[in-house]
Amino acid sequence: MVWCGVAWPRAVRAVGTFRETITSRMSNASKRVRVLFDEAAIAKRNDELADEIVAAKPENLLVVAVLKGSFMFAADLLRSLHRAGLSPQVEFVHLSSYRNSTVSSGQVEILRDVQSEVRGRDVLLVDDILESGRTVVFAKDLLMARGAKRVLTAVLLEKPGKRAVTIDADFVGFTCPDVFVVGYGMDAAHAFRQLPFVGLVDYDSSDADLFGGT
Ligand code: IMP
Ligand code: MG
Repeated sequence: MVWCGVAWPRAVRAVGTFRETITSRMSNASKRVRVLFDEAAIAKRNDELADEIVAAKPENLLVVAVLKGSFMFAADLLRSLHRAGLSPQVEFVHLSSYRNSTVSSGQVEILRDVQSEVRGRDVLLVDDILESGRTVVFAKDLLMARGAKRVLTAVLLEKPGKRAVTIDADFVGFTCPDVFVVGYGMDAAHAFRQLPFVGLVDYDSSDADLFGGT
């Protein structure tokens, strides 16, 4: 395992390393982030996922990225899809089930809907993590109900131990331990999304306010 420090709000990155210090907005505690999946591993896996997606022979493809957590994964995966020869259209849906907590509320809300027509199209739904499965099931059902021909699902991470509904993603980047992770688009109370890797925050007892105490 590699431990990285990160600076927040202003990064002061030592050249060639991630040995930085992060100061949380909510507490003055110094945070370190343990790298679980580094940039190189993610980049390699994105290219592999793109090849897997090409092999599924999508037609008239619409990629729907689930905001906010998937924005970085979706952006990199789209570039990998381009290199693999696909020219999808891109859309966004903003769903929420966490509401400033690290525990899912169990109910999924649409904060921003897809604007494009999905009827008759192959859709690739892209999300950051498949945990309970509720978010992906909700979005997939929504797109199927609107007449999508096929809804394929791609997630960067899968946490197998926490599934509440039956769903398997078609394309999975990595299997992740049942811990709260941040980085590469994923946040804790809006912090850490900018990290180019997926990691684990080294929390301590002063961190209760990082999640609004819930
Ligand atoms: P699900 O509906 O329980 O599968 O939750 C999926 C959503 O919860 C993901 O799209 C993430 O936005 C969020 N989520 C789940 N686990 C984590 C985590 O460890 N870190 C950050 N966000 C998470
Ligand atoms: Mg999400």
